[in-house]
Amino acid sequence: MEEKKVMLSGIQPSGDLHLGNYLGAIKNWADRVDDFDCYYFMADQHTITVRQNPADLRRRTIQQLAAYIACGLDPEKNTLFIQSHVPAHAQLGWVLSCYTMFGELSRMTQFKDKAEKHKDNINAGLFTYPVLMAADILLYQPDFVPVGEDQKQHVEITRDIAKRFNSVYGEVFKIPEPFIPRAGARIYGLTTPDGKMSKSIPEGCVFLLDEPEVIARKFKKAVTDSDRERCVRYDRENKPGVANLMDIYSAVTGCSYEEIEREFDGKGYGVFKPAVGEAVIETLRPIREETLRLIKDKAYLESVYRQGAERASKRAYKTLNKVYKKVGFVAR
Ligand code: TYM
Repeated sequence: MEEKKVMLSGIQPSGDLHLGNYLGAIKNWADRVDDFDCYYFMADQHTITVRQNPADLRRRTIQQLAAYIACGLDPEKNTLFIQSHVPAHAQLGWVLSCYTMFGELSRMTQFKDKAEKHKDNINAGLFTYPVLMAADILLYQPDFVPVGEDQKQHVEITRDIAKRFNSVYGEVFKIPEPFIPRAGARIYGLTTPDGKMSKSIPEGCVFLLDEPEVIARKFKKAVTDSDRERCVRYDRENKPGVANLMDIYSAVTGCSYEEIEREFDGKGYGVFKPAVGEAVIETLRPIREETLRLIKDKAYLESVYRQGAERASKRAYKTLNKVYKKVGFVAR
């Protein structure tokens, strides 16, 4: 029997999961569990490039695992694990840092953004972060890395590092492809349609665990435009707020832009905004309920991440051992 293709991705538990994470990443993972061998993890090691409260980090890491399962990632079919439980990530990260150039890391937009935001803590980890991400990926030899648009650059640098390493040592790493969803690749803030939805602007950010009334309120306050005709039409440049709401509606209902324009023809934003809110509420309702139920079952979640770490380690160490041998480290 032919082996299944491999998918791998992760999310930082640096904040509560939001609609951008769901539509840009998790939904795309959950839609494909039967066709791929899947590895999904909580990228806890990445979060400490920015100061974290330790108790909050622990809580969010476990909560994120519960949310993965609630979104449809069955732990029997997917390997779900915590990054810091598989030391091979940090180990390969060191090796790869010696095959990554200072100049290429300097060009990463996420580094530039975060360095601007956290001027008092521009640490070396923030700078070398894409190397750890390359290690996360290459250890598992995945075919695809399903991420939102903003992480594409990091998958591209991963490909460059892998090709550089392979050109010296032969075909050690598979070269992975980014896998970006058709709808939902870049969700913008509801109050800031020129910037991506992120936890740092909570009033424009819909969290997976927000109560339905809160979600409804956030959509009612979503920024549209002062267009006199107030018509629902897809125009990313001139009507970014409406385009964002259409993207969200399209991602949760599967409707095309034309279908959405037809559905809301002549109805105005007063009807459109609550309708998008309602569609999101209904999509998130079962996820929220199941996450809240699972969080209470600590023993179950512990068994999932333990088993996940074991399965992930098996695959990861196979690659790491090969790399160590290639570069000339003596086997223990
Ligand atoms: P992170 O934790 O910032 O985001 C997790 C995933 O959510 C997507 N995403 C969005 N998609 C659409 N619209 C948005 N507003 C939005 N905000 C976030 C991101 O594109 C991502 O897919 N470095 C990564 C985590 C990581 C990783 C990895 C990913 C670490 N190692 C290995 C893949 C493979 C990050 O910071 O994503």
